[in-house]
Amino acid sequence: MNNKITLGVNIDHVATIRQARRTVEPDPVAAAVLAELGGADGITVHLREDRRHIQDRDVRILRQTVRTHLNLEMAPTSEMIAIALEIKPDYVTLVPEKREEVTTEGGIDIAKNLDRFSSVVDQLQNGGIPVSWFIDADPHQIQAAHETGAKFIELHTGKYADAPDEKTRHDELKILENGCKQALDLGLRINAGHGLTYWNVYPVACLAGIEELNIGHTIISRAVLVGLEKAVKEMKLAFLGKL
Ligand code: PXP
Repeated sequence: MNNKITLGVNIDHVATIRQARRTVEPDPVAAAVLAELGGADGITVHLREDRRHIQDRDVRILRQTVRTHLNLEMAPTSEMIAIALEIKPDYVTLVPEKREEVTTEGGIDIAKNLDRFSSVVDQLQNGGIPVSWFIDADPHQIQAAHETGAKFIELHTGKYADAPDEKTRHDELKILENGCKQALDLGLRINAGHGLTYWNVYPVACLAGIEELNIGHTIISRAVLVGLEKAVKEMKLAFLGKL
């Protein structure tokens, strides 16, 4: 395994629980502090157009409180570009966004939008924010990401994670490996993520060239379970006025 690989913890799901009641808890800002105490090297949040989980207020406060680095995931729209240029995250990951999707469904198609997307990269990077493109490990998309002038790509690991059998998983890992080689040759820096779990992360963490893995769902899922016993015990203490 690549010892220098870093972990960006995606805390969107914490905000999803809060938004289920439109209340103030759990606060993703508090979650970011705990993730950093646990060793997170970065905090990732996705500010979606429909604001279904992370809110503008979260990104603004996280900019002040995150002690590692803040990765803002967003769609390449003029609204989001303006927000990023004002808040100045440490880097931005550009993702495709569809209102009806449950989560980001695939990599963005840069090759089809090269001129427009090159101008998005210029605006953000001229504003001092390095750009990462969330793409499939497809040679055309990697080449196009390079042509936009972006510093990073984030390889979409969803097909590897969702592979129905070992052979497909092996083939998808090979595609990611080839993608890393191509990106390194082009001078791109490489992140990866989506669908990674405690059980499937190791082979991806071993791929040469990957600098950071962005992981959310599996970490927040585990946090709910490992924290539940303590939370129930504490409620019983609250019954007794002893919390
Ligand atoms: N990277 C990107 C670009 C994403 O959109 C997401 C999901 O928000 C992740 C990584 C993390 O994926 P997961 O929650 O499956 O770990």
